[in-house]
This record gives sequence, structure tokens and C-alpha cells, in this order.
Amino acid sequence: MNGFGKGIGTNDELQEIRMSKSVLVTGGAGFIGSNFIKYFLDITDYNIVNIDLLTYAGNLENLSDIEENERYSFVKGSITDRELITNLFEENNFDYVVNFAAESHVDRSIEDPEVFVTTNVLGTQILLDVTKCFWQIGKDEYGYPVYKEGVKFLQVSTDEVYGALGKSGLFTESTPIAPNSPYSSSKASADLLVRAYGKTYNFPMNITRCSNNYGPYQFPEKLIPLMISNTLEDKKLPVYGDGMQIRDWLHVKDHCSAIAMVLEKGVIGEVYNIGGNNEKANIEIVNLILENLNKDESSITYVKDRLGHDRRYAIDNTKITTELGWSPSYTFEVGIKETVEWYLNNQDWLTSVKSGSYQEYYDNMYSNR
Ligand code: NAD
Ligand code: TYD
Repeated sequence: MNGFGKGIGTNDELQEIRMSKSVLVTGGAGFIGSNFIKYFLDITDYNIVNIDLLTYAGNLENLSDIEENERYSFVKGSITDRELITNLFEENNFDYVVNFAAESHVDRSIEDPEVFVTTNVLGTQILLDVTKCFWQIGKDEYGYPVYKEGVKFLQVSTDEVYGALGKSGLFTESTPIAPNSPYSSSKASADLLVRAYGKTYNFPMNITRCSNNYGPYQFPEKLIPLMISNTLEDKKLPVYGDGMQIRDWLHVKDHCSAIAMVLEKGVIGEVYNIGGNNEKANIEIVNLILENLNKDESSITYVKDRLGHDRRYAIDNTKITTELGWSPSYTFEVGIKETVEWYLNNQDWLTSVKSGSYQEYYDNMYSNR
């Protein structure tokens, strides 16, 4: 497979500098984590341990094609479990930690914020603390910790930490953090804790702040898979408010290649925005999905808006493209077409992930809207 995506001139360089490493991925049974593990196993010879609590959003079926891979292993558990994380570090000589584990859905955070603080904030702090403890090899003359060579903690943050934009402007890495939802506030808190570990303890870290992802294995509570799933079931398509909210969409494989790039080449202590310059209003997305499924617009239903709904997100990706040489490989037209096809060809997966408490969630969220 072509390592870091088309259009990136640095693939060979990255292939050359890599040596076998041991990686702890958290939340690797979710949408982006599972895509990342497969991608990273494919382009490296690294060993990956995946720890995931298997909440409603985590699904081992996402990883069925690599479960026999001898460089991969799975551990069920929470990033809030200090003892378990400590045991994992005792058994493995991790070089990288990539923290995907999170409660990730804004609508759920509006209904029940507490678990967002527990997992996203406390979980990240525990993970940081145990990681620091195992990676630290001494102190310098000023009392700052000194760490093993080549180690790095990568926090998978989000553009939502910046809050919302008006009609113009883009989020840069120096845009003030101003999150609006319980989800984005918990992610901002985690992001700032990672920053604090970098500043206070010289902890070797990077933070990535990516825009909205789409692609295979996304749980059908998020806009794109929910609209595909409902269309396949001939259900109404619930568009919040006027449908003119804007998101900057990136294919999940491009997010994975960016994370790999930051792990290998990112300057320690830096934050990198990740986005594909692909702003779309929600209603445009819904119409594109309908077009790809040869359906008319009659199923679109405008419903009550989300509380505190962020109007627009858009990423300035200058830093990662110019300093690290990353660029996205998917156009949205190709990406959305492939994604719709993936859901069409994987309806068993869709049925399976919707078989648990999904129906209850759906009724609770949409029946009185
Ligand atoms: P997801 O909800 O699909 O997956 C999250 C995974 O974390 C699940 O497998 C879940 O079981 C696991 N998990 C939850 N609580 C856990 C805990 N306490 N311990 C261990 N595992 C736990 O989410 P996603 O869309 O794959 O997002 C992954 C990460 O990327 C999140 O941190 C999210 O904030 C961030 N992110 C997502 C997007 C996006 O568009 N989806 C964009 C930018 C950043
Ligand atoms: P979502 O996929 O939940 O991502 P986020 O809120 O993190 O950006 O939602 C994307 C956009 O789609 C957001 O503006 C809310 C809107 N939306 C709907 O209009 N209807 C829906 O049923 C869902 C799930 C989202």
C-alpha cells in the first residue's frame, strides 16, 4: 500500500526513517481508531496494542480483518483504569501513545455530560500520568523530567475546541480555545492537559485538531452514516434547524495519514490542525447522499435545532501542509461516493451496530423533535 497518501512527496523518507516500534492506541475499536490501526499496521512494521472499553461506539467487528495479525493485540478496558494502563506499560515497551478514546457525540453530551468528563478529561489525565511515569528516565539540572529517546504521546483532539466561526475566517493553531458544547469542552480540557504536561514537565507530546471525519465504520449517530442508514431504511432525514451549518469534511483515511505524519515528523510540543479545505453545509451533504443513492429530496425533514449549535467550522491547514508536507488524498466527491458504497455493501455491519441500544437512543433523540 502507498504509505502516507497520494500527493505527499515524503513517503520514501518516512519509509526510511521508521524502525519497529511499539504503539499503544486507545479507543481503537471506534471509527477513526479502527481505521488508524489498520492503516498504521499496513504502512509500518510496528506492534500495536489497542485498549478500548467497547462502549456502544466501539465494535471489534471493525477490526475483524486484522485480529489474527501477530503485530496486533486487543485489551478490553478503560483509560480511566490506572492499574490496567500501568500493567500494559509494564508488559510493553511503548514508544508511542495515540489517544483516540473518547465519548465523541455532541448530541449525547448535551443529554448526559458526565461521562464526557470522566472519559475525555479524567481518562486523558490518567493516561498522561502513567505514560509520563514510564517514559521518564531522570531529571535535568533545573528539575525538568528527561524522557526516553523517541517517545511521543499524540492527543487526537478536534477543531471543535475552537468554538464556532462566523461567515468568514478559519481556525488556525493560535485561534483561542472557546468550546461551546459539553463534548467540545471536555475535549478542550483534555487538549489543555496535554499542553500542560508539555509545558510543565517537558512531556513529549503533539496535539492534532481535526475537522469532521467521514468514511467506513462511522457509527450511524453522526450526520453522514445516519443519513445513509435512514435512506436505506426509507426513513425521514432529520436536518437540524435550517441545515445551513457548515462543517469542513475530511476522509478518515486522510486523518489517519496526518496522524501518522505527525507521529513520525511532528515537532515535539506542537499543535497541528488537520483539515481538507472542504466546507459544506449540512443540507448539501444530505442532498449529495440522496443523489448517490438515486433518491429524491422528499424524505428531508427539518427538525428542531441542536442546543447551542455551532454554526461553522473551517480549518486552516497551512502548518501541517507546509511544515510536514501532508496533504489529503481524497476529493469529497470520490470520498462520499465510496462511503455510500461502503455502507451499501456492509449492511450487515450497519444492522449489527444498530442492534443494541441504538433504537432506544434514536427514539429518545428524534421522536419528539
Ligand atoms: P468513536 O465514538 O467512534 O470511538 C471512540 C472509541 O473510544 C470507541 O471505540 C469507544 O468504545 C472507546 N472508548 C470510549 N470510552 C472509553 C474509555 N473510557 N476507555 C477506552 N476506550 C473508550 O469516535 P471517533 O469518531 O472514532 O473519534 C475518535 C477520536 O477522534 C475522539 O477522541 C474524537 O474526539 C476525535 N475526533 C473525532 C472527529 C470525528 O469527526 N469523528 C474529528 C476530530 C477528532
Ligand atoms: P455530527 O455528525 O453530530 O458532528 P458534529 O456535531 O461533531 O459536527 O453533526 C454534523 C452536523 O450535522 C452538525 O451541524 C449537526 C448536523 N446534524 C443534523 O442536521 N441532523 C442529524 O441527525 C445529525 C446527527 C447531525
